[in-house]
Amino acid sequence: MSIAAAKEPFVVSTERDARRRVLEWQAERQTVALVPTMGNLHRGHISLVEKVQQLADRVVCSIFVNPTQFGPGEDFDAYPRTLQEDERKLAALGIDLVFAPTVNEIYPFGDESPVTVTVPGLSDGLCGASRPGHFTGVTTVVCRLLNIIRPDFAVFGEKDYQQLLVLSRMVEDLRLPVEVIRAPIVRDSDGLALSSRNRYLTAEQRQIAPTLNRTLWTLVEAIQAGRTDYPALEAQGRSLLEAVGFKPDYLEIRTAADIKRPTLALPPDELIVLAAAWLGETRLLDNVQVAHSR
Ligand code: PAJ
Repeated sequence: MSIAAAKEPFVVSTERDARRRVLEWQAERQTVALVPTMGNLHRGHISLVEKVQQLADRVVCSIFVNPTQFGPGEDFDAYPRTLQEDERKLAALGIDLVFAPTVNEIYPFGDESPVTVTVPGLSDGLCGASRPGHFTGVTTVVCRLLNIIRPDFAVFGEKDYQQLLVLSRMVEDLRLPVEVIRAPIVRDSDGLALSSRNRYLTAEQRQIAPTLNRTLWTLVEAIQAGRTDYPALEAQGRSLLEAVGFKPDYLEIRTAADIKRPTLALPPDELIVLAAAWLGETRLLDNVQVAHSR
């Protein structure tokens, strides 16, 4: 086989192979975007890929179910792993490379007590309160992925709003040489935010699930109409969720810029309503920025 005929692999699993490919592109002054994922790709992930395809010459998607961001008793083992299907979807999109490393490749000194990156403050409330250590796992893995790929752009979805803020702060505070791109939430037609975990829902739960988004909109519309009694609104939202069978983890009105509790009445467009709620064994996450209109 001639060297010219040799086709570069679409999927690589080692840091060495990934770096070699990216270095070739960067030597030609091509820009590179990274789309970090845990796989089981849906239209939400696809929208991230499509967004950065417009920005960068080359797009790399990483697929890695990161053990350090799952707590004990969480769904690390059950998390859906669909690498072949994911590869097909990514190939159809025409991206350049899939980086699907092993745990050992990302954590060569073991994943029990790796060197970590933590973003205090932003990581502490909301999901950080109910999932201790979760965001340290996220920042620790994304920092590694950024150091391996060294992309010009990295894209994250607003679906995981707190994660987006935590990662943006990590990049800014550590001066990581990458531009963070944010992408809007992709939903099903009934409003349910797409998530790899939606597949855990029973048919009956799937009918109830869009109530989470509808409840957030009820609060958003109340705020847009001038209500500023945030704690009462939050309590009302939690009751609406409980009434249909959710167990709310949190439902809070926060500042959109830095997810702080609004102490005074703020202009509505500075606010965001965020929630996480259990439906049976499934934890659903959603948020609506008050500035958005339907
Ligand atoms: P994962 O849940 O696979 O999500 C990968 C990216 O897709 C994240 O940036 C997430 O916000 C985005 N995303 C998921 N559902 C979306 C939707 N419905 N609309 C828009 N974007 C959506 O988030 C993670 O993986 C991990 O924590 C990771 C950042 C990869 C670190 O391990």
